[in-house]
Amino acid sequence: MKLAAGTIALLACAVALAACGSQEIQIAKTSPYRKGAELFLEHCSGCHTLAVVGAEGSATETSNRVKTNGPNFNLRKEDEQQVLYAIRNGGFSGAIMPENVVVGEDAKEVAQFLAKYSGLQAQKVPSTSITLSTK
Ligand code: HEC
Repeated sequence: MKLAAGTIALLACAVALAACGSQEIQIAKTSPYRKGAELFLEHCSGCHTLAVVGAEGSATETSNRVKTNGPNFNLRKEDEQQVLYAIRNGGFSGAIMPENVVVGEDAKEVAQFLAKYSGLQAQKVPSTSITLSTK
């Protein structure tokens, strides 16, 4: 009896965790980037990964990747113009990503959001500054 109660409690936890774990936007409702985050989740998360909105559309392994897997934006930093270009032209290659998934103000909101939140887990390459002689 005690065991059954424990099991039920455990199951309830698992369900609660699953519900919170996915598709959560970790950006305040009052943030100027919130609208862009919602648009990204709705229109881009199927093919791109970005932790801040719970998107996992990019490939995780070469063995299970499919053609539509786009770049992982946790790792890849984009600026606003690059995102707008990708939205208008269907990615950089124009081969797989659909064009104009979002347009006008919406496209701008997504681009500003992505420029701000992409590349947060990008690898920092160790660097040393060197001074080159100009003579
Ligand atoms: C059907 C899948 C799909 C959807 C939906 C999609 N993309 Fe893509 N995207 C891709 C693929 C695949 C690539 C890589 C190939 C390329 O660049 O043409 C890509 C490339 C990009 C790039 C270029 C990244 C780089 O550095 O190479 C950006 C930026 C981008 N997508 C943004 C977006 C945004 C913003 C949305 C939502 C409005 C979106 N994508 C929706 C599949 C998708």
